[in-house]
Amino acid sequence: MSETAIRLVTEIPGPGSRAIVARREAATPQGAAKLTGLAIERGQGSRVEDVDGNRFIDLAGGIGVLAVGHCPEGVSRAMAEQAEKLIHMCAIVGSYELYVQVAERLNALVPGDFAKKTLLTNTGAEAVEAAVGLARVHSGRQGVVVFEGAYHGRSNLTMAMTSKFSLFKKGFGPFASEVYRFPFPYSYRRAPGVSEEEFIAEQEQRLRECFVSVVDPAHVAAVVVEPVQGEGGFIPAPFSWLVRLREICDEHGIILIADEIQSGMGRTGRLFAIEHSGVVPDMVTTAKSLAAGMPLGAVTGRAEIMDAAHPGGLGGTYSGNPLACAAALEAMETITHPEFLARAQEVGAQIRECLNKLADRFPGIIGDVRGLGPMLAMEIVEGGDNRKPCMETTAAITTETLKRGVITIRAGLYSNCVRFLPPLNIPDSDLREAMAVVEESVKVVSDQRSGA
Ligand SMILES: Cc1ncc(COP(=O)(O)O)c(C=O)c1O
Repeated sequence: MSETAIRLVTEIPGPGSRAIVARREAATPQGAAKLTGLAIERGQGSRVEDVDGNRFIDLAGGIGVLAVGHCPEGVSRAMAEQAEKLIHMCAIVGSYELYVQVAERLNALVPGDFAKKTLLTNTGAEAVEAAVGLARVHSGRQGVVVFEGAYHGRSNLTMAMTSKFSLFKKGFGPFASEVYRFPFPYSYRRAPGVSEEEFIAEQEQRLRECFVSVVDPAHVAAVVVEPVQGEGGFIPAPFSWLVRLREICDEHGIILIADEIQSGMGRTGRLFAIEHSGVVPDMVTTAKSLAAGMPLGAVTGRAEIMDAAHPGGLGGTYSGNPLACAAALEAMETITHPEFLARAQEVGAQIRECLNKLADRFPGIIGDVRGLGPMLAMEIVEGGDNRKPCMETTAAITTETLKRGVITIRAGLYSNCVRFLPPLNIPDSDLREAMAVVEESVKVVSDQRSGA
């Protein structure tokens, strides 16, 4: 008898979850985002169990952190062993080999046939901040170019670099200066009558224009780009556009930084999303799936840029903590395995096939299915040829999947995309079960919308 992954034994959220969430609301600020009403007790692989004994399939993966799934055996074991030996040292005070090993591994894995060095941080935002700081010191320039729809974090500089104002920035200014925003080729939202090819060609031209109309290239230290926008709605940058961007950076001595915090570590079926385009950035930021859920970020880049800051100019109490490094080494060991990446591509093909079928069946709801490899999303609209974003329908779909035992989350400038971030080693049976729930949920919401 084959057991289903999903097991629901109470209403969702159940009484135990509701009680903990009520205490959370009383004890913690409402500003700290909370996408579901679940209180989770444990996780294994692609499944999590809440405090009421309900079991869910997790297609959010801690927002793209769990490429290798919840509590993979190797990671848990390595962390337990490390916890017996050394939990904290502070790399400012003393060196430990794990820290060096993570840096060496990233130096070898990040694209680029040149000498590299890696700085370890606690979070993605911190990695982006450090990358920009190093680019500024190295170039002696201040400007940073970012894109519409970008998300780079919640520190003051990375908030300035982030695009979506109402959700991430409202009321928090003033923001860091010297951040210049260019358009991003969001092909689905191109003008009617313009072909995709025409749109991309125009966007490539716009890049050059922006270096006249927005900022002078001689003022720009770095361009920071997500090869696939994450929070922006899983929008892959066209490869030819990335190639143009690289050319322009080369022409003007601008450092190209790929923010791979969400798209890296196998999420697109390659180790780094930028690899699909063949473009080699000067620096790459990673975090999220790098350490299987332990807080660890990294900047890996050309040795001469990484060495630009004076001794003591970089550092942090917990950066590259031994437990996080132990987890990262295990996670990277798994992710770099060719079989793991092949499985990730298969997972992507299966999700895409399912979403494409759904889009054919519900054209009034699903406006676009897009992404790169298994980093996929569907964009939800008001209907027919009307591409008006529909946040309410999107929220209704994620609510319905949760009620049926599948955790999904949103993304997008208009919060109208459902994004899929499953563990990349999710078994076929769990994936099929989860996608059947997604299908059923879209149908239920479609029926509700048409008043059936
Ligand atoms: C592309 C990108 N950059 C930076 C960040 C910030 O990472 P963190 O939340 O670890 O600070 C994120 C987080 O979602 C991200 O997706």
